[in-house]
Amino acid sequence: MKQQLENLYKQTIATIEKAASIDELEQIRVKVLGRKGELTQILRSLGTLPQEERIETGKLSNELKDSIEEALEKRKIQLTQQHINKLIMEDWLDVTLTKPGLLQEYQRGHLHPISQIQYEIEDIFTSMGFEILDGPEVETDYYNFEALNIPPYHPARDMQDTFWTEDGNLLRTHTSAIQIRGMERLTPPFRVIGPGRVFRYESIDASHENTFYQVEGMMIDKDISVAHLIYFMKTLLKEIFKRNITIRLRPGYFPFVEPGFELDIQCLICGGKGCSVCKYSGWLELLPCGLVQPNVLRYGKIDPDKWSGFAFGLGLNRLVMMRYAINDIRHFLSGDIRFLYQF
Ligand code: PHE
Repeated sequence: MKQQLENLYKQTIATIEKAASIDELEQIRVKVLGRKGELTQILRSLGTLPQEERIETGKLSNELKDSIEEALEKRKIQLTQQHINKLIMEDWLDVTLTKPGLLQEYQRGHLHPISQIQYEIEDIFTSMGFEILDGPEVETDYYNFEALNIPPYHPARDMQDTFWTEDGNLLRTHTSAIQIRGMERLTPPFRVIGPGRVFRYESIDASHENTFYQVEGMMIDKDISVAHLIYFMKTLLKEIFKRNITIRLRPGYFPFVEPGFELDIQCLICGGKGCSVCKYSGWLELLPCGLVQPNVLRYGKIDPDKWSGFAFGLGLNRLVMMRYAINDIRHFLSGDIRFLYQF
């Protein structure tokens, strides 16, 4: 029996050392030490032995059992360690890698197309000696209307549906409010632009938003005429569209300019022949502008007998829509990443 035990022990230890997985180890354990295991059965049959031999063999069996359990445990630790090492080698993650293709473009992020064009326009105007001004989005009636020659009873207030605050202020309906703040602060001659977000109480559709972006422009100097206005507008358009643009001026009414104009550009799509984009007129309405009304100069503490100027208001959403043939103004504030990553 002793011999039998020793053989079993040697065999078991050899298979344990060769075992290639934790599952295999478990099978070996069941086969040898389980309820019906080989060693268990030997232990059970000890009772049939004479007492002296029984004690000796029993002791040996228990020692061998402990030793097998130890070997199993040792091999288990080895196999686990090997498994972990294998995972480390094969299943590792390079946190410095970036994902390929389109996904990478959107994850990197970039300026919104409106910001892009705003910064371009700022560059164009600063290169022509203009200063960039800022103003608050919540404005007073005075800066948004009154000082722009639009007193409380004036029907022109209806041209711009307004969000009023409970304390009688408003969300600026146009960047023209910045003109007055600029005139108060600066001494002529000066040239300024004021980019910003504006708000109107509009019902929203493909061409109307309640929140959009404008750039206001104003130049005050001696003897400013419509010719100066045309020169600066043509230069701006040439820089933005990277080609010479044909323009025309139509009369337009704004209480803060006199004369006031709507500046149209010849349709960029059909070159003036007529197409669906320009509704077969050959022209696109782009830029309201005019010479600063003397009352407005007075509100800005500028003497209209000495100084004159021009002003314009450029709608950035329209401009970006023309540049990229975007057909719905609602895309800009939708936050839809599929729209944004195209720019
Ligand atoms: N503020 C006017 C608007 O938003 C545009 C404008 C600006 C017109 C400057 C003339 C001069 O409708």
